[in-house]
Amino acid sequence: MAKFEKHIFVCTNQRPDGHPRGCCSPSGEGELHRLFKTKLAQRGIKGTVRANKSGCLDQCEHGPTVVVYPEAVWYGHVTEADVDEIIDSHILGGKPVKRLIIADECLNAATCPHKPRKPGQ
Ligand code: FES
Repeated sequence: MAKFEKHIFVCTNQRPDGHPRGCCSPSGEGELHRLFKTKLAQRGIKGTVRANKSGCLDQCEHGPTVVVYPEAVWYGHVTEADVDEIIDSHILGGKPVKRLIIADECLNAATCPHKPRKPGQ
């Protein structure tokens, strides 16, 4: 079996309603991950591109969060309506979907415009 060329990690973490950080899969059903898998299979590339469920990727305020490796392109606020574009433009076409990319200054930052300030900050 050939090696996977790309991995699409889809956060499926669920937290209770009202949690300050929110979560990427409020239903806990992982619909976004399932849709990536379905669409990859429809395009005949499930043998070379793997969509994996992921636990929290620590970008919750930007969620639902998806990251594509090996490029390490991080997407935020991904909806089911974005899945075709990510696959067609990025995975197949090599052009990441700029409008969904989480800004570098927001990734792993203690604070950013999207994260609530912690007491004392
Ligand atoms: S819950 Fe998805 S990144 Fe944290």
